[in-house]
Amino acid sequence: MPRELVVSGMRPTGALHLGHFHGALRNWVRLQADHDCYFFVADWHALTTHYDSPDVIEASIWEMVIDWLAAGIDPARSTLFIQSRVPEHAELHLLLSMSTPLGWLERVPTYKDQQEKLADRDLATYGFLGYPLLQSADILMYRAAWVPVGEDQVPHIELTREVARRFNHLFGREPGLEDKVREAAGRLGGKGSRRYFELRAAFQERGEAAALEEARALLQAAGSLGQADRERLAGYLEGGRRQILAEPQALLTEASRMPGIDGQKMSKSYGNAIAMRDDPAAVTRKIRTMPTDPARVRRTDPGDPERCPVWQLHQVYSSAETRATVAAGCRSAGIGCLDCKQPVIDAVLLEQQGFRERAQPYLDQPALVRDIMADGCRKAREAAVRTMRDVREAMGLAYRGLPD
Ligand code: TRP
Ligand code: SF4
Repeated sequence: MPRELVVSGMRPTGALHLGHFHGALRNWVRLQADHDCYFFVADWHALTTHYDSPDVIEASIWEMVIDWLAAGIDPARSTLFIQSRVPEHAELHLLLSMSTPLGWLERVPTYKDQQEKLADRDLATYGFLGYPLLQSADILMYRAAWVPVGEDQVPHIELTREVARRFNHLFGREPGLEDKVREAAGRLGGKGSRRYFELRAAFQERGEAAALEEARALLQAAGSLGQADRERLAGYLEGGRRQILAEPQALLTEASRMPGIDGQKMSKSYGNAIAMRDDPAAVTRKIRTMPTDPARVRRTDPGDPERCPVWQLHQVYSSAETRATVAAGCRSAGIGCLDCKQPVIDAVLLEQQGFRERAQPYLDQPALVRDIMADGCRKAREAAVRTMRDVREAMGLAYRGLPD
């Protein structure tokens, strides 16, 4: 059984924090056990929003990839690469752009959201509008079955499916079939035939399942059709098109509720993060000074874990037993907040020790990381070249006799 293919990318943001690890990376590590995984650095995606500060990208890439390896991404199992080193992504993006309606891109929720959020930047650019289509190209290039992403990215995967469907519809024709179908549809009468093609388009281009049902019923009810014509028309409703690009599914990553050291969601831009490879003394200090339930002013005041960000860290890091003990101790004022924080500190330090150990060889020999990425880029590129051969052929750009 060939393993299902997974693709995911991350924008190069530099050193990753515990929110990245528990939100996305840990999931990637799990997936590589039984999937064929392609994980890449989305450096072009970084440029769509930060085209005015390209200088930070390179350093960010190496820091981030070392954190992937520190998390347990295994380059012997997974293919790691850098988007811009597989320039076929740009070619596929361009070709897909020919048939992608502007409205599909303008409707993607992150388009308006990000423009509002990053109001200090001019994002009224061609590249930024195309962001989700570039992402579609990233995914379709490898014919991925699954794309592990957070909730905010789900509309991008939906768009990717629509783009694939439209591409297959436009460019996946089987020669000769059309004439036979037209002849058979003629037997449905002018009105019936028109309806049949409308319903088929609704299903094939927009995935409307109800249209498929209705078209099947229409064929069933048509007494004028012979068996062979009915089968041909039924087959053509769904098929008649080669599947050149595969429709992927989002593999939803459960949102990490990792709080930052100020109790808000952990984020580099809030300055409240604990980096995956933070220094142990800094980690201890950060957690010890974290805010707790504001009602626990004195050691003798009882607290409520539900109002305390440290409790959220216990959800991630502590056993059910530890959680029960600290929750009871908090409510009865039987323990102090520092007592409560200690098991979290210990667990984070233990986890980070693993990160640091796995990162060390790469920090000692940066050439190892370069080699891993060079290998991955080569392997990804081979796959991309194969897909692009099919895509060019389907679009009439094969130019047989000319070298590739
Ligand atoms: N847009 C994604 C993000 O911001 C990153 C990304 C780019 C991606 N291309 C991708 C994720 C392809 C999954 C698949 O997180
Ligand atoms: Fe928070 Fe623990 Fe203090 Fe309760 S005892 S307020 S859960 S840190």
